[in-house]
Amino acid sequence: MAIDVKRFLAQKLLETVGEDAGDPYGLIERPPKEEFGDYAIPCFGFAKKFKKDPKLIASDLASQITPGGLLAKAESLGPYLNLYIDRKVFTKEAILALRRTGFEEIRADGEGKTVVIDYSSPNIAKPFGIGHLRSTVIGGSLKRIFSFCGFKTVGINHIGDWGTQFGKLISAYRRWGDERALEHDPIRYLYDLYVRFHAEAEKTPQFEQEGREWFNRLEKGDEEARELWRRFRSLSIEEFKRIYERLDVSFDYYTGESFYEDLLDETVKAVKASGITQMSEGALVVPLPDMPPALIRKQDGSTLYLTRDIAAVLYRKKEYDFDVALYVVGSPQALHFKQLFTVLARMGKGWAERCHHVPFGQIRFADEAMSTRKGNIVFLEEVLDRAASLARGIIEEKNPGVRNKVETAEAIGVGAVIFNDLKNSRIKDIAFDWDEMLNFNGETGVYLQYTHARIKSLLLKLEKRYKIPGIEAVSDISFGEEGYEVARLLNEFEAQVRRARSEFEPSVIARYLLEVAKAFNGFYNAHRVITGDRDESLSRGLVADCCRKVLSQGLELLCIRAIEEM
Ligand code: ARG
Repeated sequence: MAIDVKRFLAQKLLETVGEDAGDPYGLIERPPKEEFGDYAIPCFGFAKKFKKDPKLIASDLASQITPGGLLAKAESLGPYLNLYIDRKVFTKEAILALRRTGFEEIRADGEGKTVVIDYSSPNIAKPFGIGHLRSTVIGGSLKRIFSFCGFKTVGINHIGDWGTQFGKLISAYRRWGDERALEHDPIRYLYDLYVRFHAEAEKTPQFEQEGREWFNRLEKGDEEARELWRRFRSLSIEEFKRIYERLDVSFDYYTGESFYEDLLDETVKAVKASGITQMSEGALVVPLPDMPPALIRKQDGSTLYLTRDIAAVLYRKKEYDFDVALYVVGSPQALHFKQLFTVLARMGKGWAERCHHVPFGQIRFADEAMSTRKGNIVFLEEVLDRAASLARGIIEEKNPGVRNKVETAEAIGVGAVIFNDLKNSRIKDIAFDWDEMLNFNGETGVYLQYTHARIKSLLLKLEKRYKIPGIEAVSDISFGEEGYEVARLLNEFEAQVRRARSEFEPSVIARYLLEVAKAFNGFYNAHRVITGDRDESLSRGLVADCCRKVLSQGLELLCIRAIEEM
């Protein structure tokens, strides 16, 4: 468990000023400059109780408070009481606390609470493009973060497996379809069919009509239409799963839009029954303040993406009784979710305020070949293959002797793509630049993996040398400023995870891990770990081991594999 320095200082203060001054915890601040101490208390807060000039209070407290434990000294400066931490004590205690913990305490945060996360959610018959990558990795990471914090998580892949495009696909497949081509590469093949359908429909408008008819038949349960749709769907999902495996992301349910088909009638009834609907040119709508009305049912009786999302959220509430529901979907759908949540609120669902759209920006390619391809479609699988092969090249160059080259290259390549996606706040657009993503010394996944592997090999050497199964104690040696910096950061791990969770922002963890790796490398450069002195070596080894533990746990939360050897 992390050391709560503020709690310790508050306790010290209470002993000095007495209980009736109230808990000073909330008064303790981080001063803007280091020379004002590690922590400070503005003494205006005590002025009422002591009826004295805050300056006087500060100087009295400075002389009364007894240093000890984590507190090295106290000084007054004007109305402020500045507190200095004993860095040696802190470093040692933080490291020891970290050695013991399995981060169990944080699980209490989410005890008894459920979060439903809707992420990835690609559309069948359109390639799993780079755009869906973002939703997949942000959602996958959020799921791990919430689980780590003790929440029950329900991961849902709301695949786009329903809608008029399936009528078009069926019609196209019946006209031009090739069974073998479909089996061979279903997603790309279906995509090509879809593109071809649109191109030909420009010339032969009756195709459009035919597409609508096929969707109609599909909706009515026509066997031939259903059979084809089922095949398209299951072949596509099989392919998606291959990608998810590579990204190490999984789902509890693949309940796509089609899943809610049977619930649509009652959904429309429920919306109507709440008295908020109106008819508008034959369509059923909910007028909304400051935004376009929500279209619930079209004039021809068909329902919409929004209707299916209303059905889905009602189902999820009933089935999982969630405390929080997240939708990890790009920012262009902001209005859709605003409409969805507003409709729910107007239906009297108080829990609508616990539904959140978690938007993210776009991916921009620096790579010419990828950005100029016709239709701007990038197949994620190609991207991952390319990443792994570039990583393989780097391994051959840097360390050709490494075992498990194929797995290592895959972990580095895929990790690079994921980290590149998670390293900045999600709302920002991200650049896709191979050289930058695979830079061993940059702000990259591979930098973290490399640091992790470096620590691992250091620890192996240490264990061999001192014949110890693991590192147990920490002696009274000094770890220096660098060691303190490491300990200070490591001690923040849980707080950072909590922030990532409450802001739905995996980048908080990504940035934090970069700092940890940097601090470790600083420590390692300044202090030899294997020195010939057993106690010293083992104590420093323990600092390294704690860094390893936080790095590997943190990478896990980002769906990136920590590497043992590279
Ligand atoms: N399939 C949709 C798309 O690719 C995303 C679905 C997001 N989830 C939801 N419940 N609307 O645009």
